[in-house]
Amino acid sequence: MIITIDGPAGSGKSTTARGVARYLDGQYLDTGAMYRAITLGVLRNSPGSTDSTDAVSVAADSVIELGHLDDGSQWIKLNGEDVSLAIREPLVNENVSWVSAVPEVRTAMVTLQREIGARVSETNGFLVAEGRDMGTVVFTDAELKIYLTADVAVRASRRGQDLVAQGHGVSQSEVAESLVKRDRLDSDREIDPLRPADDAVMVDTSNLTADQVISNIAEMACGR
Ligand code: DC
Repeated sequence: MIITIDGPAGSGKSTTARGVARYLDGQYLDTGAMYRAITLGVLRNSPGSTDSTDAVSVAADSVIELGHLDDGSQWIKLNGEDVSLAIREPLVNENVSWVSAVPEVRTAMVTLQREIGARVSETNGFLVAEGRDMGTVVFTDAELKIYLTADVAVRASRRGQDLVAQGHGVSQSEVAESLVKRDRLDSDREIDPLRPADDAVMVDTSNLTADQVISNIAEMACGR
């Protein structure tokens, strides 16, 4: 069974997807991490570039590997190097939207995501895949599609807490500004824009605890 969780940055996708996967004893797939890893590769190879050909060559030449720690969280390697922390740097946040809007980058990542989905399906397990286009493009036949939303202020506060926990000093207004900019870029891009699938269940997480969201979705999954 495949469960997709899409929504804007800070809507609670990662916590929810990880929690639902644990609840169902399934596998968690954070696809944003894949676009972040390609972005990190571009920043390292061509600092300051916003040229799509640089992103195309990184996507073509890089090996991305994913795996899980015992607590269910995902690690990601770029060409053999564990970049799970490096991909959360503010410079990656600032560049990931343009990199992920490059069609060749998306084609390469979607292929990889579908391969992971096929492997989980072969074992009759659960895959909880989170991103922007999981329900609309990558896993259109998913048994359960969720679209998470939350007020901008709530999302900025969550992302701000994450960044502070990672040692980055940022103001709430900077985080909110960066989120709104990224939402706009992710929603307005021509290819695979952020939008709810027609058959997605909308869940507003603004006033819900993470545990409430996780158990609501896990119950929906068990009822299918
Ligand atoms: O979920 P996140 O914030 O880690 O995602 C980082 C960026 O990657 C996000 O701004 C848009 C892009 N992304 C995407 O285009 N498609 C996905 N399936 C997942 C993420």
